[in-house]
Amino acid sequence: MTEVRVGILGLGTIGLGVARILIEQQTLMTKRLGKRLRLVAAADRDLDRDFGLDLSGVRLSTDANDVVTADDIDLVVELIGGYEPARSFVVTAIEHGKHVVTANKALIAKHGDDLFVQAAANNVAIGFEAAVAGGIPCLKAMREGVAANNIQSVYGILNGTCNFILTKMENEGANYADVLKEAQALGYAEADPTFDVEGIDTAHKLSILAAMAFGSFIKFDEVFTEGISKISAADIEAVAELGYRIKLLGIAKPHGENAEGIQQIEMRVHPTLVPLATQIAQVSDSYNAVMISGDFVEHTVYIGRGAGERPTASAVVADIMDIARVCKQGQQDGVEYLAPPMGYVAAERKSIATLPIADVESEYYLRLMVQDKPGVIAAVTSILADHQISLEAMQQKERDEVEVVPVIMLTHQTTEGNLQAAMLRITALKAVEDEVLILRKESFDA
Ligand code: HSE
Repeated sequence: MTEVRVGILGLGTIGLGVARILIEQQTLMTKRLGKRLRLVAAADRDLDRDFGLDLSGVRLSTDANDVVTADDIDLVVELIGGYEPARSFVVTAIEHGKHVVTANKALIAKHGDDLFVQAAANNVAIGFEAAVAGGIPCLKAMREGVAANNIQSVYGILNGTCNFILTKMENEGANYADVLKEAQALGYAEADPTFDVEGIDTAHKLSILAAMAFGSFIKFDEVFTEGISKISAADIEAVAELGYRIKLLGIAKPHGENAEGIQQIEMRVHPTLVPLATQIAQVSDSYNAVMISGDFVEHTVYIGRGAGERPTASAVVADIMDIARVCKQGQQDGVEYLAPPMGYVAAERKSIATLPIADVESEYYLRLMVQDKPGVIAAVTSILADHQISLEAMQQKERDEVEVVPVIMLTHQTTEGNLQAAMLRITALKAVEDEVLILRKESFDA
């Protein structure tokens, strides 16, 4: 029987999950593939530990070069994470004619376009399903399932750590720092939690999804990004009273052309108020969700585990199987039968312009800490009126014996530029203390 021989870089949580599937699910996968996947080698800096798995038939090394250059490996799985040395090992693997599967969203978001060109030149495939939304096959859905559609919008809860933190804060009234520690202990968080909580991980994933949706090159550096670290349990409670829940969303939508005739795409990541009755609002804990809307299919929603050993490993091995299905041992032919990695043939991918954030339209939740005295609200609302910003709701909590009180305002639709101009004047008012918390609100009909 034909074999496809696999090597793994990095035996961390996900790497061991992939090894476990390749060993324990071999009979099932052979039935589905008509070929056998064999784990031949793995590299990790620390081999002196209990892997909790029988790796006796696997050649182990502390040097990743032993895997990426080995003659008896057809496909390299990169699970080191981060930009370097992961990028260099992937480049070497491609140069040695090996297919690559990775879960590394940072690598794909920053260097993916170069790697795809290099892979095509070497006639090898790159799979990266696990890089976006862990176990949810949302890239396959985007690349193949909705390929007949013009994509109208992409919304995603793309970071399990943030969703876990926001859910716990809401359910238990718990504080942000304690819940972050719990998420890290559960293994959801990235090595550097800033990537998770400041929205960078979500921006990596959104930039990949958006490029795939709109046939463009990946523009990770241009995604407007805000995280969840400024949100308090009190904000979550206030938002709930107004009929909303806070989710860290990645949002991408197409717009018209700019003055230079280049199509513009709106791409932003920030904590977002979503109506309680929507499907996305129901997605809790470390679950992720991706909503892709197209002109024929309308709304499609994909929900599942976005992090953790088993779901992420499941997506990695699905990619290995896709490539193994079309490629023979020791040969690269067959890659042409796979859908193009970014969903469009290379010659049709184009450069886009990211819609300037000042032009993005949204509705807003504003939390101001103001002195409790006559005329303060009048001064704030008169500035909003000067900027044509209309209010949908306003709430002031009664606080006995306290001089500074929170005032919450929900606005109707306005541009970010308009809102920021009003905020500059509002925060300059003597009666407005501290920074104003600005959250954006999205309306869905799904
Ligand atoms: N740290 C990520 C998350 C998982 O919390 O969703 C891997 O992308």
